[in-house]
Amino acid sequence: MRIDIITIHPELIASPFEHSILKRGISKGLAEVNFINLRDYSTNKHKSVDDYQFGGGAGMVMMIEPIAACIEHLKSQRKYDEIIYTSPDGELFNQKIANNLSTLKNIIILCGHYKGIDERVREKYITREISIGDYVLSGGELAAAIISDAIIRLIPGVISDETSALSDSFQDGLLAPPVYTRPADFNGQKVPDILLSGNFEKIEHWRAEKALERTRKRRPDLLK
Ligand code: ADE
Repeated sequence: MRIDIITIHPELIASPFEHSILKRGISKGLAEVNFINLRDYSTNKHKSVDDYQFGGGAGMVMMIEPIAACIEHLKSQRKYDEIIYTSPDGELFNQKIANNLSTLKNIIILCGHYKGIDERVREKYITREISIGDYVLSGGELAAAIISDAIIRLIPGVISDETSALSDSFQDGLLAPPVYTRPADFNGQKVPDILLSGNFEKIEHWRAEKALERTRKRRPDLLK
């Protein structure tokens, strides 16, 4: 899978892809992530990509020309399955959307900034708008990194234990059950006996019960 991230801060977004699971997925060739500096597509001498909004009002707006030039250039090289814009007014990101996006071949993520993008970009190019939560970030880069992380770890082969991604919270619509590792007794805080029993059928049953119990308590909305 290929993710092309259009940003005015390529240096800000690179780091999450240089560590751990994402790094491994990329070095195995299972995911390719490119950072495209939007300023490279600005034709004015200051390399600016924003301007005042028509009609007045506070806040700058990202101009259509550099974005259009950038997206047209990318589209001339390959076909894209989705062109995503990160924005607080998009659909709320969740595991289902991550699952869906992880099956695609090529996507673009355009990182928003300032007051937003010229509406005509949305009309002409954007196929999907995604918000990572009901709060406003100073730019779309962190949102793009979060979306990419959630997608890449789902690509088969990225996580070495194939079943691990499937047992994540949300993957089956429930939160994950509690997990423990050694020591079995930490100053009197004991690991539940069942997990030490070796009876895998009973352990699976216990985990399913705990997942349901935790979801009921913390996120009853997921059970509706
Ligand atoms: N840009 C600013 N805030 C955002 C949010 N909550 N989600 C996605 N992109 C954003």
